[in-house]
Amino acid sequence: MPDQAQQQTPSESLTVLDNRTGQKYDLPITDGTIRAGDLVQIKASEEAPGLAVYDPGFTNTASCRSAVTYIDGEKGILEYRGYPIEQLAEKSTFLEVAYLLIHGELPTREQYDAWVHEITYHTFVHENVKSFMHGFRYDSHPMGMLMASVGALSTFYPDASNIKDPDNRHIQIVRMIAKMPTLGAWSFRHAQGKPFVYPDNDLSYTANFLSMLFKMSEHRFEADERLAKALDVLFILHADHEQNASANAVRAVGSTQVDPYSAVAAGIGALYGPLHGGANEAVLRMLRRIGTKENIPDFIKGVKDGNERLMGFGHRVYKNYDPRAKIIKKACDDVFEVTGVNPLLEIALELEKIALEDEYFVKRKLYPNVDFYSGLIYEALSFPPEMFTVLFAIGRTPGWLAQWSELVQDKEQKIARPKQIYTGAHQLDFTAREERWA
Ligand code: CMC
Repeated sequence: MPDQAQQQTPSESLTVLDNRTGQKYDLPITDGTIRAGDLVQIKASEEAPGLAVYDPGFTNTASCRSAVTYIDGEKGILEYRGYPIEQLAEKSTFLEVAYLLIHGELPTREQYDAWVHEITYHTFVHENVKSFMHGFRYDSHPMGMLMASVGALSTFYPDASNIKDPDNRHIQIVRMIAKMPTLGAWSFRHAQGKPFVYPDNDLSYTANFLSMLFKMSEHRFEADERLAKALDVLFILHADHEQNASANAVRAVGSTQVDPYSAVAAGIGALYGPLHGGANEAVLRMLRRIGTKENIPDFIKGVKDGNERLMGFGHRVYKNYDPRAKIIKKACDDVFEVTGVNPLLEIALELEKIALEDEYFVKRKLYPNVDFYSGLIYEALSFPPEMFTVLFAIGRTPGWLAQWSELVQDKEQKIARPKQIYTGAHQLDFTAREERWA
C-alpha cells in the first residue's frame, strides 16, 4: 500500500495515520471537505473493505455542491442566491423570489411579467384531478391529499419524464408552482365539504389562493391586501432552506431520474413529519395544550425531563435565532392588526422568554425556529392546524424545484445510494416451514 504522505503534500490536505497498519495517507481538502471516496483506499488489509463514513442523519456530510441557498447557522444568516432573507421579505414578492431561486438571478421587468403570466395561466388542473380528490375520506389530512395529488400530476404530464430537456423542465416547474395552491386549497375545501373554487387569473398568487380557500357565493373573493401580503412574506420565508430533510428527499428521489412531480411528492412526504414542516402544526397543538401561562413551568419541566420536546425550538443548522422566526414575529403584528390578537401569542411569548433564559435551552443553543410563530399567524388567517404544513409546502415548492433542477444538471451527481454497516446474521441454514412448525 503506498505511503502517500511521503509523496508531494498538497497544502490543503489531511494526513491520516491508520493505526491498524501504520500507513499514512494524504487526503486533499477542497472547500473544507474531504471526499468520502478518498477514504476507500484506507484498508486494514488488501481484502478488507475500504474505510467508510458512518453518519446517520447526514449530520456532517455534504451531499452536493449548491449555489441556491446559503445558511450560516452560528450567525443566523440565510441568503437565497446571495440575497439576505430580510431584504427579500421586505422588498420582493414570492413569485420574484421563486424566479430568483429557479433561474439564479433576479428577473428583468420583461422576464418578471412573463414569469408571473406563465404561473398565473397554469393554475388550473385537469378536471379528473377533482374526481380523485373527491375520493378521499372526509377527514383526510390535507398533506396526504397534497402529496398524492402532486404525485398524480405525473400521470397527467407523462412528458415530464423527459428531464434532460431544459424547455421541458421549465414547463413542469411552472406547472408545479402554479398548481400547488389549487391542490392545497382543494384539499382544504374537501375536508369542509365545500365545493372546489376554480382559480381566478385576475388575482395575485396569494389573493387567488385565499379566494380558492374561502370564496363562497360572492362574485369575487376580496382578500384583505394586508393578509395576502403577509402570506406572500411567509411563502418567501419558506421558499428554500438548502439541504433540509425534504430537499434531500427531492434530491434522493430525483437522483433516480424520475419526473419532478414524483420527486416533489417525496419532498412533501418528508415535510409532513413533525420534526420537519409538521412542527408548526405541533406547535399550535402544544400551545393549546399548555392553555395558560401558569402551566408553562410544568411543561418546561416535562421537556427538560425528556418527556417531550418544545416544538418550534431547535434546529440542526441554526445555533442562534432563526432569522425567519424574527421576521415572522414581526409579521404577527401586521396580521393581528387585521384579525385581532391570537390569545395563544401570550403563551408563546412567555415560553420563549423562559426558554431563552433556561440553562437547558441555552446550553444546547435551542432558539425559536420558523415554525414557532408561523402557526399563530396561520390560525389568525382562519387555517386549521392541519393546513399549516400545506402552506409550508406551497412556499417550499420553488426551493425543491431549484434543488431538483440543479441536481439534474450536476454532472457529479449519481443515484443516491448510501452504504450501511450490516449488523445482522450470516449464513443461516433455512429450515422449511413444515419442519420448523412440526
Ligand atoms: N426541545 C427540547 N430539547 C431539544 C429540542 C426541543 N425542541 N431540540 C433539541 N433538543 C435537545 C435534544 O434532546 C438534545 O439534547 P441532548 O444533547 O441532551 O440529548 C439536543 O437538544 C440536540 O438535539 P438533537 O435532536 O440531536 O438535534 P437535531 O439537530 O438532530 O434536531 C430538530 C433538530 C429540529 C429535529 C430538533 O431541534 C427538534 O426536534 N425540534 C422540535 C421540532 C421542530 O421544531 N422542528 C422544526 C425544525 S425548523 C423547520 C424545518 O426545517 O422543518
